[in-house]
Amino acid sequence: MKLPFQHLLKASQFDPSLLKILFDEARELELRTKSLELRVKNSELRIENFGDGKILATVFWEPSTRTRFSFETAMLKLGGKVISNYSMETSSSITKGETLYDTAKTISSFADIIAMRHPKEGAVAEFAKGSSVPVINAGDGSGDHPTQALLDIYTIWKWRNYSDFKSAFGELTIGMVGDLKNSRVVHSQIELLKFFGCKFILVAPNALKLPQKYKDLMKENHCEFSETENLEKVIGDFDVLSDTRIQQERFESEEEFKKYRTFYQIDKKMMTKAKQEMIVIAPLPRFGELLEEVDSDPRAKYFEQVRNGVIVRMALIKGMIK
Ligand code: CP
Repeated sequence: MKLPFQHLLKASQFDPSLLKILFDEARELELRTKSLELRVKNSELRIENFGDGKILATVFWEPSTRTRFSFETAMLKLGGKVISNYSMETSSSITKGETLYDTAKTISSFADIIAMRHPKEGAVAEFAKGSSVPVINAGDGSGDHPTQALLDIYTIWKWRNYSDFKSAFGELTIGMVGDLKNSRVVHSQIELLKFFGCKFILVAPNALKLPQKYKDLMKENHCEFSETENLEKVIGDFDVLSDTRIQQERFESEEEFKKYRTFYQIDKKMMTKAKQEMIVIAPLPRFGELLEEVDSDPRAKYFEQVRNGVIVRMALIKGMIK
């Protein structure tokens, strides 16, 4: 399976047919991983020889727990190798004034594929101009986080028993809750879900509402949506609750952030108001809005998402590397 683009910069590069190609590959990898896990210890687990001799570089200007480790695990499971700089802002030659273009020229002489994260929207696209190998956007400011959205949608698809996309997604009411203004994950999720006619309920403080361009996108694609600040009032209508924390790093002052930090609290009590068959997804990290007491609820899917992320990123690396 080869994906028809050089770089993955935006979720909007996917349409339903491309999504199907990627997810079928991921599902195949998931089945093979499961059967191998029964036979070998995890430390020996390599499900492919595809990556032999190939190198992934992870270059991150922003902190990460899941995305960077997930990309690196994916490449190792494919049989490839990893080079990494998880603190580009302090320990690369950027500190000496090197440009993104020159950094890309250099790293792409060493690696076969690059996963990059940066606090500035558009910086990954700028970097990709200098790269001779595929670049994957691992999050650029409040812009896009396409691989997170892909694994989120894959998690929903899996929960819907891998059925055809129209019935898997089309009948769902998706509640997007939290910092809809600044969350790049939410923006990427809308780009992927817009095709399937699902209904959205947007729950955010008034100051952190979804930007107009994403609402226009929903309208253009005939997706029904409504907006409210009140989670308690609408949680009972959700089939999927997509949580996103208030994005502290995008606020100009600590004081401003503190006004919203605990605006929502998804706890056991709140979950009693939700449907029994609803699921909760979240990109994590969480920061006060999604309580640990919810983790044992079978509807909580956010740690399963983390595992699905490795599979989806394996499929992506396979589809993008030359
Ligand atoms: N979901 C996500 O992007 O998590 P990290 O910031 O830990 O990579």
